[in-house]
Amino acid sequence: MRRRLAALAAALCGGLAIVQLALADERGHAAAAAPPAVSSASLVASGRALFESSCSACHGIGAGGIHGRGPSLRGVGALAADFYLQTGRMPLSASRAEPLRTRPAFPQRQIRALVAYVASFGGPAVPDVQPGRGSLADGERLFALDCAGCHTIQGQGGIVTGAIAPSLNQASPRQVGEAVRVGPYVMPRFGEAEISAAQLDSLARYVQYLQHPENRGGWGIGRIGPIPEGMVAWLLGAAALLLVARVIGERREDDPEERETHHG
Ligand code: HEC
Ligand code: HEC
Repeated sequence: MRRRLAALAAALCGGLAIVQLALADERGHAAAAAPPAVSSASLVASGRALFESSCSACHGIGAGGIHGRGPSLRGVGALAADFYLQTGRMPLSASRAEPLRTRPAFPQRQIRALVAYVASFGGPAVPDVQPGRGSLADGERLFALDCAGCHTIQGQGGIVTGAIAPSLNQASPRQVGEAVRVGPYVMPRFGEAEISAAQLDSLARYVQYLQHPENRGGWGIGRIGPIPEGMVAWLLGAAALLLVARVIGERREDDPEERETHHG
């Protein structure tokens, strides 16, 4: 029996290891597949058609911008187009609204076409971000210095003057790189002089680490912070004490000998 249990435990551990390996592999592939394909003339043409139906009301025919509605996109490059479309920030519903993250409005094929069209006017490419090459310690230090003021050190986000700094729970490494280089809305833009490519890898690694709290030790409880965690510990402790008191109380009632010793 015991041997069978041991075999079962071993099988379970093996299974878990395989699942973990598969997950790690998948992540590796997702990172490798990131940069968009080279833009072809037909891709740009279908991008232009999509742009004219979904974007030019604010950004103008030919992406030159319309005063009071939307800025010119000439020169923002694949960098900004990919970021705003992959995070569902564009198309915006109203020109004055803060662009917020939602589900992308277009399937990947159409996003590629729109990105190719915007990129056809020139501008920076999507950065190649590899969190695996970064250093967690550097990432944490940089994040504390440049990002935590708005996004909090745990990346949970918060309110800044006139805007919402979003939680970074959903941002992929590539989107972290894009946000840093674009500087969307009130977020400052950081060029290579402020944050190098290697430092960007480290920042992305730190954000990834925040998204997988199982590595941090302790009990997360949704990572709401040390004070609630302490309270939960107290509540659990109190419940356990009540249970113990009750069990002892019941034993006393059932046990005539113990009752006698007390009365006597
Ligand atoms: C309702 C108007 C509106 C529509 C429709 C709209 N946009 Fe925008 N777009 C804006 C505004 C306003 C901004 C500036 C937002 C800001 O300040 O962050 C913007 C910003 C952008 C940027 C960032 C520019 C930069 O300087 O970094 C990109 C890229 C973009 N839009 C692409 C698109 C695409 C592609 C579409 C169509 C799928 C689209 N937009 C539809 C209003 C619009
Ligand atoms: C002044 C405040 C401020 C600072 C500093 C700042 N951000 Fe932001 N960040 C914002 C705001 C506001 C947005 C949302 C912009 C929008 O609505 O389009 C944002 C958006 C983002 C996003 C997109 C999140 C998503 O899910 O789409 C990422 C990633 C990000 N920031 C990372 C960083 C990193 C990394 C740093 C440090 C290098 C940083 N930010 C510094 C305010 C800030």
